[in-house]
Parts: sequence; structure tokens; C-alpha cells
Amino acid sequence: MSEAGKKLFIKTYGCQMNTYDSERMTSVLAGQGYSPAESVEDADLVLLNTCHIREKAAEKVYSELGRLRHLKTGNPDLRIGVAGCVAQAEGREILARADLVDLVVGPQAYHRLPQMLEAVADGGRPVETDFPAEDKFDHLPETTGPRRAPSAFLTVQEGCDKFCAFCVVPYTRGAEVSRPAARIEAEARRLVASGVVEVTLLGQNVNAYRDQDDVTLAALVSRLARIEGLERIRYTTSHPNDMCGDLIAAHAAEPKLMPYLHLPVQAGSDRILRAMNRKHTAAEYLNLLGRIRAARPDIALSGDFIVGFPGETEEDFQATLDLVRAVEYAHAFSFAYSARPGTPAAGRAEVDADVKAERLYRLQALLQEQQTRFLHSMIGRTLPVLLEKPGRNPGQLAGKSPYLNAVHLAAGPEHLGRIVPVRIAGASTNSLSGELAA
Ligand code: SAH
Ligand code: SF4
Ligand code: F3S
Repeated sequence: MSEAGKKLFIKTYGCQMNTYDSERMTSVLAGQGYSPAESVEDADLVLLNTCHIREKAAEKVYSELGRLRHLKTGNPDLRIGVAGCVAQAEGREILARADLVDLVVGPQAYHRLPQMLEAVADGGRPVETDFPAEDKFDHLPETTGPRRAPSAFLTVQEGCDKFCAFCVVPYTRGAEVSRPAARIEAEARRLVASGVVEVTLLGQNVNAYRDQDDVTLAALVSRLARIEGLERIRYTTSHPNDMCGDLIAAHAAEPKLMPYLHLPVQAGSDRILRAMNRKHTAAEYLNLLGRIRAARPDIALSGDFIVGFPGETEEDFQATLDLVRAVEYAHAFSFAYSARPGTPAAGRAEVDADVKAERLYRLQALLQEQQTRFLHSMIGRTLPVLLEKPGRNPGQLAGKSPYLNAVHLAAGPEHLGRIVPVRIAGASTNSLSGELAA
């Protein structure tokens, strides 16, 4: 242990919820005397906050642990823990396969880390992968002290009841649970008091949010919008079937709700959507987007796609391309299907890997074309940009447009954390550039 107190290094993988959870773990461990380490080499405790969504996720965690072995050899007091969705999925198996691991903690048990570390000090190797009845957020302190970033994540909902046939999330994050609106509002107020001007409400199915008093996501948004100093509200990720009328109406009525929506559809063929257990058709999705665009005509749409789901034919894939052409996305993520152990689709006959790769290439080319078109449509416009961090070069800052595009411009550090008008002058493949407008 170093003289200056114990040092913690958390390596975070996966989605924004893991980023949020890592901050909460940092806070709870600060109460145990841990401060952030500059690098993994300086740490007394290393936590891997893992993601289980991609292929060979568990294998990658075991290789990462292998790379930490030399540190443990050099420093027998080093503690190593595995957290996140691989911890939840693999549980005790991790202790068996990696003897250097001291603790395994699933996403719902982070508030138990102090007791777990005590157990480690007593020579134990604790594993906590239950879904406890208590709300972990009631027991996890918030980040204190001055914040660096003007934009913050705020988890409002966790878990998923949808059981898409390809997805591990219902197993790693458990059933849908919503945090009480009053707690969320209190947390948002504290964030704003510490300099935050934008919050992104997080949930695996955030638009399924409904708290014990039946507060919906739309109602939560309008409640948060009343907080003075909070300028921007976003939410992610949503499921089409939970996109209710009141939330669509909020996009028309609430100026603080940003004109951006990530609404994954996964595929354009109804046959494949059925096989994926998505519970909606392509036409229903397009109809929904029509209603959303009617409410907020300039909304930037984003999605997730899976190509090469078991049974996908060229015709099915063409239906995905047709859907993408019909929507005209501002941005999207696309993936080649990979079987996740324990999911319903895992046993099904797979599409040939080369075919998957080739389809992914064609889909990504189309999506990139649309993204480029969207970015170029911004040139000449003046957009309010939230300046979030230093830019690529000295004298530059980087920020976000209302449509979630990265924007680079020349501006002094005194503008950090402010929303300023920026005249957009250029577009690259993934971002915009411009200059401060008077
Ligand atoms: N809760 C979110 C995020 C789920 S994971 C949602 O419902 O959208 C993010 C994306 O990863 C999914 O939308 C899906 O496109 C992709 N994904 C999930 N499982 C996958 C698998 N087995 N193979 C390929 N892509 C997958
Ligand atoms: Fe996974 Fe589907 Fe739930 Fe999204 S909605 S987390 S893809 S099961
Ligand atoms: Fe990954 Fe778990 Fe998020 S599997 S995408 S870290 S919910």
C-alpha cells in the first residue's frame, strides 16, 4: 500500500450504464480510502467493469486478467475484482478460471463492495451476483466535488423484460426496475449545482420507465425540465414498443428535450423481427417514426442493426436496406450477429461468416452515406453547441450539437461548460467544425 493511501483503477467496457456505474463504484470506494490511480500500475485495487454483449466477451476478460498477472506477481497486495455483465454471467466460474481474482461483483451489488473488500482482507474471495431487493442507488454515494464535465449520465431504469432472442441483457441486468422520480430529481439537482448543464437519462429500456407512483419517462422529463440551470435532457436506449404518445408529445412540447432519438429496430424483415422476438413489424416501426417526426420534424434518428441473424436470407437483408433507405438515419450502429451463450438464438444454424461480413459492409456503406448527408445538411446553419472539453489542438474546444454531433471549433477555455452559437462550416465523416457566432 502506498503512503498516500490506497489507489483504485477501474477499467470500463460496454455501455454508458457501465460508465455511470464506474463513477458510483469510485464514490463508494472513496469512502473506503481509495482515490483514483493514474494507471493500472499504480493501483492497489483494479476493477474490470465488463460488458457481455459482444462475441467472446468472457474470453477477452480472461486475457485481460492474464495481462494483469505480472502486476500481482510484483505486488502480492494488489487486489483484482471483476464487475459488470461478464461478472453477472460467469459468477463463480471466474474464480475457478482466474486464480488472481479476489472478488466478483454483478451490477446490482456494487453497494456491497465495502463488505466484500473486508471479506477479501480476511482471506476470502467473495462473489455477489444476486439481484438484491434493495435499490443499490440508495446505498451508493454520488460523485462529490467539482465536476469536470458539463454533461452527465443519470441512470433512471435498469434491466430489460423484452428478451430479444439474441441478447444477454435480460440475464445480466435482470428485470426492468425504475428508480423513484423524486430520487432522480434530487440527483439531477445536485448535478446541476455542481456545474452540469446536460443530463442523459440511462436505462436498458429507458422509455419503459415507470416509477412506483406511475411517473412515466415523459412526466419525468418535464419534471427535470423545470430545474433551473439544466439546459438539455436526453435519454437512451429506447424500445419501439415503449414509445408512448406522451413521450412523443414531449418531443414537441419540451424545448430542453434534445431532438435526437436512438431507437433500435435491428432488422427490416418481419420474418426476422419475429425470429428475434422484437414484437413489432417494420411497418409499425416506420409508422412510429412518422408520428415522432410529425411531433418534432428536425429530430435526428439513430438505430441499432444486426445483420446475419440466424435464418436471414438475402431477401431479408434487402428489407433491412429498404427500411434504412425509408428512414434516413442521422447516425446508427450496426453489428454482425454473434451467438451469446444462454440466449434463445444461440443454438440456431448460423449464416456463413463471409456472408455476414459482406452484408455488414453493404449496410455500413449505406448508413455512412446517410450520416454524411446529415452532417453536410448542417453546414451553413448556426447551432447551439455545448462546449464539453478541450479539442484536438491547442486553442480548440469540442462540444455537442443538439443532434448529438461532435463539433470542433476555435475557442478559449473560458467557454467550457457553456452553450454557445456556432456557425457550422465543415463536416468530416463523424463530426462538424465551425466558428463561434457573434
Ligand atoms: N438496451 C439496448 C442495448 C442493447 S445492446 C437496446 O435495447 O437497444 C446494444 C446493441 O447490441 C443491440 O441493440 C444490438 O443491435 C446489438 N447486439 C445485442 N446482442 C447482439 C448479438 N448477440 N450479436 C450482435 N449484436 C448484438
Ligand atoms: Fe436486449 Fe432487446 Fe432488451 Fe434491448 S430490448 S436490452 S436488445 S433484450
Ligand atoms: Fe454490455 Fe452489460 Fe451494457 S452487456 S452493453 S455492459 S448492459
